[in-house]
Amino acid sequence: MTLSGSNERHERTPGRSPGRVLVTGGAGYIGSHTVLCLLQAGFAVTAIDNLSNGSYEALRRVERLAGRTVRFVEGDMRCRDDVIDALAGGVDAVIHFAALKAVGESCTDPLRYFDNNIGGTITLLQAMEGAGVARLVFSSSATVYGDPERVPVDEDASLRAANPYGRSKLVMEQLIGDWCRARDGLAAVLLRYFNPVGAHPSGIIGEDPAGVPNNLMPYVAQVAVGRRHRLEVFGCDYPTRDGTGVRDYLHVMDLAEAHVKALEYASRHPGCEAFNLGTGRGTSVLELVSAFESASGRAIPFEFAGRRPGDVAELYADPSRAAALLGWRATRTLGEMCADTWRWQTANPMGFTA
Ligand code: NAD
Ligand code: WQD
Repeated sequence: MTLSGSNERHERTPGRSPGRVLVTGGAGYIGSHTVLCLLQAGFAVTAIDNLSNGSYEALRRVERLAGRTVRFVEGDMRCRDDVIDALAGGVDAVIHFAALKAVGESCTDPLRYFDNNIGGTITLLQAMEGAGVARLVFSSSATVYGDPERVPVDEDASLRAANPYGRSKLVMEQLIGDWCRARDGLAAVLLRYFNPVGAHPSGIIGEDPAGVPNNLMPYVAQVAVGRRHRLEVFGCDYPTRDGTGVRDYLHVMDLAEAHVKALEYASRHPGCEAFNLGTGRGTSVLELVSAFESASGRAIPFEFAGRRPGDVAELYADPSRAAALLGWRATRTLGEMCADTWRWQTANPMGFTA
């Protein structure tokens, strides 16, 4: 079924479609923004999601923004029949977002993370092999670098993920690499995202974290809109320019566009290659708070708290490989990341459920 209820599998697009893509985790934050970019680029899209952290409403809004339909399979990546159903009808490539992503939760329930993330990936690769699908774009994370020896970090830095979530990403990268080496003609692109933030500039889709946000930008946005009293800044004694943690925030629309470039790359380059996706610029917690205050016109009350266990002082990307080989660069500014987050937050103070 399409989301709009018809049995039509894909809307016909005038001219030749660039391809048919299965997006796993397509009802989630980055997945929904990427589905929009794919539809706008002319791809026919199937999305599979078990809705454990995603929203059906997000995909309905994506359809409205694009004026095109998505074929949606409500299913679980660990269920072979669900994944085979999602691949049925023909798919040229898969973008694999579906995963659990909360670092703290992965420390208290590591087996759930290994089962969901690694188990779901094995089922996907088996189903792709069965269906003869040879191209894969995988959502990895800068978390695979752990606490790197130097910044900016490039793709050749040692991989030493420091928590179960990060280790699940590392294992998934390795599984995919082994699969590509074992079969001629397979192409996989591993995308190591730094800190994705922001929302589509329409304010119609955005990040809708369940419960208390773990990440800085959604927490700041909820303070600004009055859902939370104040921000706790985790650590003010790091060896950084203002003592707070430095990260490489990148706009989710830049990130979504990178997936279209990665699909093009995979269609021309067999093998398995990893790319950092970041801006190459570090921003401290206090700099982000200040940028958000400017974009929103709201004060963000905060207090300093102790360091959060597992946090590193400074992590930002060397994104030059993505520029050279994918032809991708992040173009949106920190001001746009904050302004677009604010537009989404004010239009949808309770997220998709309101
Ligand atoms: P998200 O939770 O919003 O999206 C993930 C989606 O996958 C959700 O809709 C969820 O319901 C679905 N899902 C999870 N397990 C599933 C399963 N077994 N079967 C079917 N669907 C399942 O997260 P996001 O921020 O959009 O992240 C997307 C991907 O990017 C994830 O793989 C995440 O690890 C990776 N990533 C995210 C960040 C970040 O900061 N957001 C940074 C680096 C990497
Ligand atoms: C950013 C900075 C915090 C919240 C995480 C995952 C990583 C990746 C991206 C998936 C840090 C500080 C935060 C708050 C704060 N996800 N902070 N108060 O930790 O860089 O990365 O998301 O792959 O794996 O670890 O992002 O947004 O949580 O933190 O002071 O309430 O903001 O200490 O310096 P992080 P974040």
